[in-house]
Amino acid sequence: MKLRIARLPGDGIGPEVVEQAVKAVDAVCASFGHEAEYAHGFVGACAIDRYGDPFPEETFRLCMDSDAVLFGAVGDPKYDNDPTAKVRPEQGLLAMRKKLGLYANLRPVETFKSLVHKSPLKEHLVDGADFLCVRELTGGMYFGEKGRRDDGDTAYDTNLYHRYEIERILRLSYDYARRRRRHLTVVDKANVLESSRLWRQIAQEMAPQYPDVTTDYMYVDNAAMKLVTGPKFFDVMVTENTFGDILTDEASCISGSMGLLASASVGEHTSVFEPIHGSYPQAAGKDIANPVATILSAAMMFEYAFGLMDEGKAIREAVAASLEAGVVTEDLADGGPAYGTAAVGDWIASYISEKNNK
Ligand code: IPM
Ligand code: MN
Repeated sequence: MKLRIARLPGDGIGPEVVEQAVKAVDAVCASFGHEAEYAHGFVGACAIDRYGDPFPEETFRLCMDSDAVLFGAVGDPKYDNDPTAKVRPEQGLLAMRKKLGLYANLRPVETFKSLVHKSPLKEHLVDGADFLCVRELTGGMYFGEKGRRDDGDTAYDTNLYHRYEIERILRLSYDYARRRRRHLTVVDKANVLESSRLWRQIAQEMAPQYPDVTTDYMYVDNAAMKLVTGPKFFDVMVTENTFGDILTDEASCISGSMGLLASASVGEHTSVFEPIHGSYPQAAGKDIANPVATILSAAMMFEYAFGLMDEGKAIREAVAASLEAGVVTEDLADGGPAYGTAAVGDWIASYISEKNNK
């Protein structure tokens, strides 16, 4: 199969981690007889520097003309402490999600046997935790009307949701619940927010259409607690954009590191595969960033964009083997020997080649 992949490394550690994912993709392609063709594009701060636009038309075209997008991260400290900046790297990522119609961000949270003791949470609580967080990605406060008034001394962001946006993300979540353990938790703040009451109302309307799935409702503050006191409760969790952003960072400590969580952003046009972590500028160029989240995002790319399940599995097995063998970056090294970003990427790619040599 020919795989046309848009390669958008972005900023900070983005380029180094995407490079490792590409090694894994190439190893899989060589073993399974596929051909990956990469087109390079700019997004984020690097695109502002080059085009004055964090998501230039050229990058958009390139994404539209590809079968999948492999994305790293965006963000640069020079914008972080300047609230007056007119254009920001993060706008590039938001524009990409919006223009490609990627309304669902699938963030699986799993534990690795060899890492359960590394979680800051008690081992018996996290061992076996396995759930999917479905984060709505193109609505809510991220995209609702925002602004300032009173000479800039009052600011607002609107948490706007339309019925069709809620219906489609719930439908997709139910579909995933059906393929898993048939348990959907709708996370909201319906005791306070009107937008949440609409979410809950629509979920209650739809639930009877999925009698084989158990639906329950949980306030986001309670869900935040449940994630650390009993994460095994969850199977599929669906929530709005901002809550999903916050809860999935929190959930990363179940697996042991932010550097492990992969995601797929799917919807109308080309899907984007991206780690959930950010650009980690302090680590950029130092060969210390954990490439696993991006490598696992590449596994999701094989599965979700191309329906190539064995290929995705080959990557997952290699990642699990690297963790077991202690071939890990410093975030997981526990003071023991740490490997560099590139060394981890090379190890995983060679493992894939050796195990799947046809
Ligand atoms: C994420 C990131 C982004 C978000 C930022 C970089 C805009 O934190 O993908 O979770 O808030 O969605
Ligand atoms: Mn985030």
